[in-house]
Amino acid sequence: MTVRILGIETSCDETSAAVVADGRRIESNIIASQVDLHRRYGGVVPEIASRKHVELALPVVREALDQAGCGLDALDAVAVTAGPGLVGALLVGLSAAKALAWARGIPLIGVNHLRGHIYANFLANPDLKFPLLCLIVSGGHSDLVYLEDHLHLRRLGRTRDDAAGEAFDKVARLLGLGYPGGPLVDRLASDGDPEAVAFPRAYLEEGSYDFSFSGLKTAVLNYLQGPGPHRPPADVAASFQAAVAEVLVDKTMKAAADTGVRHVLLAGGVAANSALRHRLDRAAAHRGLAVTYPPLELCTDNAAMIAAAGYFLHQAGRRDDWDLNAHATLPLV
Ligand code: KG4
Ligand code: ZN
Repeated sequence: MTVRILGIETSCDETSAAVVADGRRIESNIIASQVDLHRRYGGVVPEIASRKHVELALPVVREALDQAGCGLDALDAVAVTAGPGLVGALLVGLSAAKALAWARGIPLIGVNHLRGHIYANFLANPDLKFPLLCLIVSGGHSDLVYLEDHLHLRRLGRTRDDAAGEAFDKVARLLGLGYPGGPLVDRLASDGDPEAVAFPRAYLEEGSYDFSFSGLKTAVLNYLQGPGPHRPPADVAASFQAAVAEVLVDKTMKAAADTGVRHVLLAGGVAANSALRHRLDRAAAHRGLAVTYPPLELCTDNAAMIAAAGYFLHQAGRRDDWDLNAHATLPLV
């Protein structure tokens, strides 16, 4: 029998609801982006995000059900992002999810946002087999996670300062590109020379799987403010991007070798980056490793990935109580 899960995601600035069957088939995935509202502030304003989620949550859920062609009575559970994220924003999705689950008498399942990003890969590739290694690179996180199975995830490394996406957004601002910066840097870099400027690569101490990107961001700032002559912005963008991708891919390859994992997943908004994908593909092919990454629309925040993650937790018997709360920080396991 089909298990149909409604996913709700409101951790940042997208209000999203989705219906996913058996954790793999997307029946609908509605994403209302608030990016235009926040653009003039150069970043997400939490209070504005919360207020907008209140306006959008139920219409987005209704649209997700309509597009899936099902009513509330066809749902087996509601999965909702419980953190990490903006607490006020998370609470809106949590309240909607609790109300719907309570009204229908179906289980409520809280999902870690990062687990959601990982599970976008199960939507892209239904045949994934454990153990897996996932590089999560988003606006708020850069984590290297080992997955033994659905319930046993172990974080091998994390960023010690800026997240990869944050570095992209900050460098975009330095280059006067606007917000959100990742896709704009990516586009500009496509005409640039990645070897034009030798930006630093932070590998940290021997054997560490942690990341650090704030020094790189400062190096870009110093370069742009330093004495010329300066290379064109496309070269700066391409060189910065190459420095990020090189460290991310090298550490991921080392972790794959150390853990013996043969299949690597990429997740989070920065997984959309073309240089990162290209470099990971090449490195993995060289070592005979398989690589999966979600299609572009499932890399950034969406509720289908939350429903997919919720499905596997549901099958493992996970249920949350009505006192499930929102958490700005939330450990992955
Ligand atoms: O996963 P996500 O939608 O939100 C978080 O959970 O943080 O990631 C958003 C981040 C932003 O920093 C954005 O600039 C970055 O992903 N991003 C990219 C690209 N597309 C989105 N970074 C680099 N290249 C891209 N093509
Ligand atoms: Zn995210």
